[in-house]
Amino acid sequence: MLIVSNWKAYVEDLAKAKRLSALAKRLAGKTRHAFVLAPPAPFLGILAKGNRSKVRFAAQDVSATTGGAHTGEATACAFVNAGAHYAIIGHSERRAAGDTNEIVAGKLSHALAQGLTPILCVGERARDGGATYLGFVREEIASALATVSAKERAQVVIAYEPLWAIGKTAADAIGPRELSEMILYIRKVLAEYLPGKSAARAKVLYGGSVEPGNARELAAGAEIDGFLIGHASAEPESIAAVVQSLS
Ligand code: PGA
Repeated sequence: MLIVSNWKAYVEDLAKAKRLSALAKRLAGKTRHAFVLAPPAPFLGILAKGNRSKVRFAAQDVSATTGGAHTGEATACAFVNAGAHYAIIGHSERRAAGDTNEIVAGKLSHALAQGLTPILCVGERARDGGATYLGFVREEIASALATVSAKERAQVVIAYEPLWAIGKTAADAIGPRELSEMILYIRKVLAEYLPGKSAARAKVLYGGSVEPGNARELAAGAEIDGFLIGHASAEPESIAAVVQSLS
């Protein structure tokens, strides 16, 4: 499985970042899972420097701009030069801060142009009685993929993260059955945008209150390729317990 640790702004000191990174390297050495760490931007270059382990690093976001007079922006190119291989794009917390589908599409193409593997986050805010949330998720995928080439689309990792399940506890997260239905739907949408076998090969992750108490059940119950983990990834004991539960 692909296990992406999104430390968000939970990790604010370098010593803790280094502890979590060392732990991920140990876990990567002992298991067959692939580990990607998304630290706060100031720590990424430090952690990635001289990295010879299987662990890879991700930007939590990239700028909608390329280089130039843009104070405060961190571009996809800068993240590559700091040692990133992945970039989380369109996380709901970035969308809440103003990223529209159009901005997300722009960030996705900047990431791809720099050779970063994008982890495109999609997910509905809430579920009503009907099925309008399916159309919402479809549009998030379609608008992002429409602007990039077929070859580039095949590289995009999708992270399904329903907003109503983010930042809570395992008890509030999605259940395996609902997740399984949604993942099938996402794969159907991907099949419209990806040629032949690429849709079946596309990686689809789940994120939203993945904890030691539900990771195993979710992994067993749905056709997912891994997890995007927030709060549980920022504490050594909980991420170790999640990984242990998957072995
Ligand atoms: P959570 O966050 O695991 O804290 O719910 C997941 C995410 O937002 O990526």
